[in-house]
Amino acid sequence: MKLTRRSVLLLPLAQVGCTPRRPEARLLPSRISLPRPFETELPIIPVLQPSGADATTDFYDLAVRPARATIVPGTTTEIWGYNGIFPGPVIHAQRGRRVTMRLRNALPVPVVNHLHGGRTPPESDGYPMDFVMPGAVREYVYPNEQRAATLWYHDHRMDFTGAQVWRGLAGFYILHDDEEKRLPLPAGQKEIALAICDRSFDADGSLEYPSLDPSLKGKPGIAHEYMGGVLGDVILVNGAPWPRLDVANTKYRLRFLNASNARRYELAFDPALPFTQIGGDGGLLAAPISHRTLRIAPAERFDAIVDFTRLGFGTEITLLNRAATGHAGQVMRFRVTRGERDDAAAIPAKLSALAPPDPAEAILTRTFDFSYKRATGTWTINGKPFDPSRMDAQPKLDTTEIWQLRTDFSHPLHLHLVHFRVLSHSGRPGPWDAGYKDTIDLAPGEVANILVRFTGYRGRYVFHCHNLEHEDMAMMANFEVV
Ligand code: C2O
Ligand code: CU
Ligand code: CU
Repeated sequence: MKLTRRSVLLLPLAQVGCTPRRPEARLLPSRISLPRPFETELPIIPVLQPSGADATTDFYDLAVRPARATIVPGTTTEIWGYNGIFPGPVIHAQRGRRVTMRLRNALPVPVVNHLHGGRTPPESDGYPMDFVMPGAVREYVYPNEQRAATLWYHDHRMDFTGAQVWRGLAGFYILHDDEEKRLPLPAGQKEIALAICDRSFDADGSLEYPSLDPSLKGKPGIAHEYMGGVLGDVILVNGAPWPRLDVANTKYRLRFLNASNARRYELAFDPALPFTQIGGDGGLLAAPISHRTLRIAPAERFDAIVDFTRLGFGTEITLLNRAATGHAGQVMRFRVTRGERDDAAAIPAKLSALAPPDPAEAILTRTFDFSYKRATGTWTINGKPFDPSRMDAQPKLDTTEIWQLRTDFSHPLHLHLVHFRVLSHSGRPGPWDAGYKDTIDLAPGEVANILVRFTGYRGRYVFHCHNLEHEDMAMMANFEVV
């Protein structure tokens, strides 16, 4: 190719020999021939049954262990799974009833369990250095004193979260309450939790990931070119590549979770069908919102009704990802195969009593700047990499603050313990910012103001970027509720 001045300007920086100012998330290409889309049935994730219960508490036993799974047809893949499956089993919890999770670590490396979106006492929150060592058992207590919501649990080991979640350590935790139960929403087989994530596979079917130490026992870190984030080229839903699901011509409630390390999706149906959003990270919205597409960043959840009522038998509807082209541009396929009475006739116009956020409640504003430090090659908050011994904010229990978040680059930002309201997001709140959230996705150079009420427990928690490679490479900080 002849390099004219114009074509030089259009070349990606890497090709003209400069180091980019900020490392972009990067595709790790699979070495296996990719499975054909829409041939595997969507797996319905098994529900975990309690091993016991008393007047206040349901007891669950989970073991994290290596296991073999068939993900790409014709091969087997070693995964690390809760009870040996990926995603882990679904835990259904009830507001006001405690869950005690007894976690046994049958992996050769330390693990940490975090209930994402849980309002959890600090000793059970899964601080990144609160390790469950190989062979050990640890009890986590989840009080469930919070609104019904789609939560999820995942590994949170310091420096190794990206690698360990990639191997399979993530699962749904669905919290129910009476407010939600009173609504006439699709239930039973018409309520489906969908964990979407991307992975890459080696020629023998094993998962690829660019860790510096593939045993994950010693040196942390990943190959330098992936420090902006690892993208896979196989899209999995509930652990199956580009699956398909036969549905009835009625309404479905789909709970979407983006369990990817670094990939964002913009979900859209082809042919077009709206998503009627009824909930987000922190539970039900005040009223439904209709979207043509759902932008979902790592760790975000959307609870949406999709109405297949008017579609004839045999109609195929593909769930696309408009944020990518090629293989990653498709997610799964639905096919209408049967008729059913539409028993959830109308989506209620009012879902939940949720007052609009009131910024006058805030007693102070803190500013956090999320940026890449080229000199040290780390992702930082206010110029500093994570230091477990440094306290970065000390909000007072039962007070409200405004946190102003600023980014140099795309970062899905997450706070433990709390759910917040979005006051502004480079102007007005964005179309996907409604209700209570625990993760907000900022594009490069954006500023968002979030209203955060610190309730529940005193103690130390973290906030961080949920691009797991950014998190592992130090974009995390402490806060202590005092
Ligand atoms: Cu889902 Cu601290 O993470
Ligand atoms: Cu969390
Ligand atoms: Cu980030």
